[in-house]
Amino acid sequence: MTVVSAAKSRALAFLPNKVKNQLEAYADAASTLFEVRDPRVLGAIGPSAVRGTILKRGKQGVPTIIPASHRAYFDWSYPSDFPEMAELYSRAKRGQWNGDDLPWHTSVDPLNPEVPLLPDDFLGWHRADEFGLKLDAREKAQLRHSVTSWMLSQFLHGEQGALFAAAQVTEAVQFFDGKYYGATQVMDEGRHVEVFHRYLDTKLDKLYQINDNLFVIIDALMNDGRWDMKFLGMQIMVEGVALGAFSTLYKETKEPLLKELLKNVIQDEARHVHYGVLALREHIITELSESERREREDWAFEVALLMRNRFLAYEVYEEWFEHKMSREQWRAFITGSPGMERFRHLMFARMVPNLREIGLLSDRIKPHYDRVGLSKYFGGIAADQLTGDQMLSDLDGLPRPAAAANEEYALAAE
Ligand SMILES: [Fe+2]
Ligand SMILES: [Fe+2]
Repeated sequence: MTVVSAAKSRALAFLPNKVKNQLEAYADAASTLFEVRDPRVLGAIGPSAVRGTILKRGKQGVPTIIPASHRAYFDWSYPSDFPEMAELYSRAKRGQWNGDDLPWHTSVDPLNPEVPLLPDDFLGWHRADEFGLKLDAREKAQLRHSVTSWMLSQFLHGEQGALFAAAQVTEAVQFFDGKYYGATQVMDEGRHVEVFHRYLDTKLDKLYQINDNLFVIIDALMNDGRWDMKFLGMQIMVEGVALGAFSTLYKETKEPLLKELLKNVIQDEARHVHYGVLALREHIITELSESERREREDWAFEVALLMRNRFLAYEVYEEWFEHKMSREQWRAFITGSPGMERFRHLMFARMVPNLREIGLLSDRIKPHYDRVGLSKYFGGIAADQLTGDQMLSDLDGLPRPAAAANEEYALAAE
């Protein structure tokens, strides 16, 4: 413990729990900003951080209005200008599915230990004692229900952000083949909102508010007029987190309806990240100056850190443990839980190779990733070389089917 944090702990020890937790929440919000070192990145994220974590705009119980300022890019000559995107569009049309066809008749009991929503070791009960958490079997099942509902609620809110971002990007992208493809993504994201909401509403009967840090990222993307920042934020960073989270839950849940739902969503999301890689690789390498590229590289690193450090289910903490443990203890409990470790692994295994592929992992930034333990992902397979089927086979522990277009690469990578 540093001298400063020891002094802080001594000062906080004299305060009532509620005041202490509130102060800790503010300190936590402020520390979001201190992680940002590039002043241009601070300028882009700072106002959103204030709106999300201090003003809590996502939790006011009223619709949130976020101004958008991107430019719509029309082209009256309708060119065929990006064959790989055209191929993705064609695959997306064939891959459409109807949320009504999922097995909604499945009866889901979130407290049934025979069909657990999450495995027992997800939160790591063996560690609970260290943190003074004494829970009986029923309370553990209820907590599993809460954590699963929290995760799915954040998926749902993230999907609403993805729906609007996909619509904006469809307007703003300069490739006409990208606009055709983008229209399918708008449909995909609409369907994702529909199925996650239906599951939460009819099966789990519990919906959490949007996490402050997720709000910060969505707010920053919606406000940024530069289309490639929306792309980078949504198609690479948020979709990367989504794929990591969906994949973790797909792999670990025993509930068959949820598994089927996630399987379908993962197939769509794999295309979305692929699209982000195609569009950004072209744009960053051919259109941006070195200074602009560097700004995006710093932004991506900061957002990756935010995502790693900040999605810590504080909403569940406030509901369950506010009077039993400090926020700091909860942070340590959740951060070190085996399920969260597996989630972070899958998230960065998907995200970091994509950053490399679009030119945002130069030798200048690599030591920063190395410092936070992420260099092991530098050589992974990027989204343009990995289909949804291949991703699902990896998760199921089956041999990965090589798609016709990338057979050679996939085999080389084995
Ligand atoms: Fe989605
Ligand atoms: Fe998506």
